[in-house]
Amino acid sequence: MRLLVTGGAGFIGTNFVRYMLRKYSDYEVVNFDKLTYAGNLENLKDLEGNPRHRFVRGDICDAAVVARLVGEGIDAIVNFAAETHVDRSIEDPIAFVITNVLGTQTLLAAAQKNKIKRYVQVSTDEVYGSLGELDFFRESTPLAPSSPYSASKAAADLLVQAHYFTYKLPVITTRCSNNYGPFQFPEKLLPLLISNAMNNLPLPIYGDGHYIRDWIYVEDHCRAIDLVLHQGKPGQTYNIGGCNERQNLEVARLVLTILHKPESLITFVKDRPGHDRRYAIDASKIQKELGWHPMTSFEEGLQKTIAWYQDNKKWVADIQQGEYRNYYQRMYTHRDETLLKHL
Ligand code: NAD
Ligand code: TYD
Repeated sequence: MRLLVTGGAGFIGTNFVRYMLRKYSDYEVVNFDKLTYAGNLENLKDLEGNPRHRFVRGDICDAAVVARLVGEGIDAIVNFAAETHVDRSIEDPIAFVITNVLGTQTLLAAAQKNKIKRYVQVSTDEVYGSLGELDFFRESTPLAPSSPYSASKAAADLLVQAHYFTYKLPVITTRCSNNYGPFQFPEKLLPLLISNAMNNLPLPIYGDGHYIRDWIYVEDHCRAIDLVLHQGKPGQTYNIGGCNERQNLEVARLVLTILHKPESLITFVKDRPGHDRRYAIDASKIQKELGWHPMTSFEEGLQKTIAWYQDNKKWVADIQQGEYRNYYQRMYTHRDETLLKHL
């Protein structure tokens, strides 16, 4: 199979490309990525020279390049490419609309023209909005996104569905909960907590810290996408979750315990506007239909992730020298000025 993986130099894409090349010795991957601040060729360094992996730098909104690539005998597309950080989407929504909506449409048009056998849209549970204490996100839960990020992902999901109904394009959508693991950009909660704790810096916790996310180890997500790609039913949506709801404060405490750091590093800062209170996934459909279930416990996944960040200090340090430094200053100045003295 010849796979076009978009966004394969980002966090989940990097893990997915490795997973697929490892698992299928006859698969070829064309890895198409714009290399925004979140894409990193360092992630793919050990794939250099692998004849089954070809990296192409480019933008999923560029119709000519996308058409050319898809026309080169691609069997299936897995679309990870996106602007992904909620806080950045609050600052500057336009980039999210362009890549997440226009980019998805551009890929769908090329998939349709070339009669692609499978198109997998990697979406998020955030399209469902926020939950109260008791409920769970099901595939039938109405879309009610809160942030510009989740609204742009929901718009993309609707375009994907429209291509199934209108053009019979064999699309599948996955909606996964919060991932963590190696290669995650340090703006997201877990790698931020880990790298700050490793450097004895404050751990910024938004609001009261009682916000809940369902954490899944990235390899469990990759395994689910692999299953959906091969065995999922066209036109369907599959929720993917870790069955692992945790409050942010609990996550911070666990990181500190594993790293033997004091709880006094936890610093409450100004909340995110429109902050979704709780995400929780009902993953029974993919469990029943495709036999998937998460295999890595939170404690084990966290240990492995922390070990990866300890072994890859330069990877984080290099990111922190670049655009991320300005972002961190901008983002956390208005949240709590005391955090800045640590930069
Ligand atoms: P990421 O931000 O780490 O990586 C995104 C990648 O997309 C980067 O390599 C970036 O360079 C690339 N990209 C951005 N704009 C592009 C464009 N216009 N053309 C080509 N490439 C472009 O994101 P991630 O966390 O790996 O998420 C991947 C996908 O999974 C996203 O679609 C996201 O919505 C979805 N998702 C993420 C999570 C999570 O917890 N991280 C959970 C559920 C779903
Ligand atoms: P994040 O990793 O940005 O993922 P998402 O908002 O897409 O779920 O944030 C996860 C949770 O952690 C969310 O409730 C916001 C919170 N958070 C903090 O408390 N402090 C931080 O510095 C960040 C980045 C997030």
